[in-house]
Amino acid sequence: MHDVYSVLVVDDEEPIRRLLVKELGNKKRTVRTAVDARNARRELHDHQYDIIILDIRLPDADGLELFTELKSLAPDTEVILITGHGNIDHAVEAMRLGAYDYITKPFALDRLELVLDRAYQRVFLQRENKRLRHSQETELPTLPLIGKSDAISHVQYLISKVAPTDVPVLITGESGVGKDVVARNIHAQSRRADKQLIIKNCAMLQRELVRSELFGHKKGAFTGASEAKDGLMSLAQQGTLFLDEIGDLPEDVQASLLRVLENQRYRRVGENEERQADIRFLFATNRNLAEEVTNGRFNEALFHRINVFNIHIQPLKNRREDIPLLVEHFLARLCVGHDHCSIATSALDQMLNYDWPGNVRELRNIIERSIILSENGAISPQLLPREMAGFEFRESPTGEDMTLETVEREHIRRVLNLHDGNRQKAAVALGIGRKTLYRKIQKYALLPGNGHHESQ
Ligand SMILES: Nc1ncnc2c1ncn2[C@@H]1O[C@H](COP(=O)(O)OP(=O)(O)OP(=O)(O)O)[C@@H](O)[C@H]1O
Ligand SMILES: [Mg+2]
Repeated sequence: MHDVYSVLVVDDEEPIRRLLVKELGNKKRTVRTAVDARNARRELHDHQYDIIILDIRLPDADGLELFTELKSLAPDTEVILITGHGNIDHAVEAMRLGAYDYITKPFALDRLELVLDRAYQRVFLQRENKRLRHSQETELPTLPLIGKSDAISHVQYLISKVAPTDVPVLITGESGVGKDVVARNIHAQSRRADKQLIIKNCAMLQRELVRSELFGHKKGAFTGASEAKDGLMSLAQQGTLFLDEIGDLPEDVQASLLRVLENQRYRRVGENEERQADIRFLFATNRNLAEEVTNGRFNEALFHRINVFNIHIQPLKNRREDIPLLVEHFLARLCVGHDHCSIATSALDQMLNYDWPGNVRELRNIIERSIILSENGAISPQLLPREMAGFEFRESPTGEDMTLETVEREHIRRVLNLHDGNRQKAAVALGIGRKTLYRKIQKYALLPGNGHHESQ
């Protein structure tokens, strides 16, 4: 446990506050104080504390009630009570309700320190557990961003420039191009690197609960809210919150998110007071958000706010020089069950010519699958999926050399396929007129529904 932890002392006696600030504050703890219940509430709204030391007798509140209230404001914070001899019953009752421990006045400082450190240990472990439970989507190790194309070099440059700032970043690009990888690299190169990176896919948020998942809620905020709950905003405090597929965020929540970006404050569901959001935001989408704005599906002001710094990743087919590096990278990383994994030049050629609709994810999956299918870790063209083989690499069904006509037919078939049967586009791609294409389609009987979707 290397973290500095924060303590809030709630006590109306000035000498005690002064003593605790002086004696407890050190390299591993920061200590702040509140003189009464009102003050304590405000502190908890504005800051996240690890531990509260609460005098059970305050002028403006019933100790037990205040304890329950503070606990619901900050469910993950441990509370240690200070009590006089007359109030031990109350302290015991508070323990039953979830206080960490109590100490009686007059107390020995070293005993209090011991209790504090143990309480923090609990806070730390609970937070760690929560983080691990979250880790399916989160906290995977940062992966290097492989590539030497101009496109990827530029992305790397943009990351290095924007990472140290707190500016929100919108990462765009087709599915599988590496938006997650970029987000992780931004976090890893930021001053928040040793804090949490929380990743949430907005498409996976439960619709009725989106607001509460993001902002948290107060106990009793709605039916079923039997406990107060921290939202992603509080999980990500001091760290980074990566909202993936931001285009899927429901509209009413888009407006609330805009407010957080504008003034770094948010409100839990059911609460009036605002809390501070010390969070770096990253966003990703494979949609065209500008278009969504035009169609009225995405909040225009939010779009401008998150689009201040855009990192766009080109599809893999536009940066083919990255393919050999990526292949090498995944061959090394995914080589299991063999001493060494390699790829035949002819197989790599096919990869270089392929269009990669699924981008790097598809490439990774194909390597993984081929390694499994291979005898000794050597990937030959036969192991690659069929659609990757351009006709020129494919054996003719009879094993004989193909005639020029067969080659032409196969090539037209393949190009039509690539363009989903769209003749206009296929003609452009083939460099022939539409009429010529038409004639050839008739000649080779490549009519829609008449075979051009089959591969032989
Ligand atoms: N430049 C790269 N270097 C190394 N690995 C990469 C790179 N780009 C993508 N990958 C790998 O490819 C896979 C897909 O990448 P990622 O999950 O980042 O895509 P994405 O753009 O977030 O896709 P989606 O839109 O579907 O969420 C991952 O396994 C990732 O590690
Ligand atoms: Mg992704």
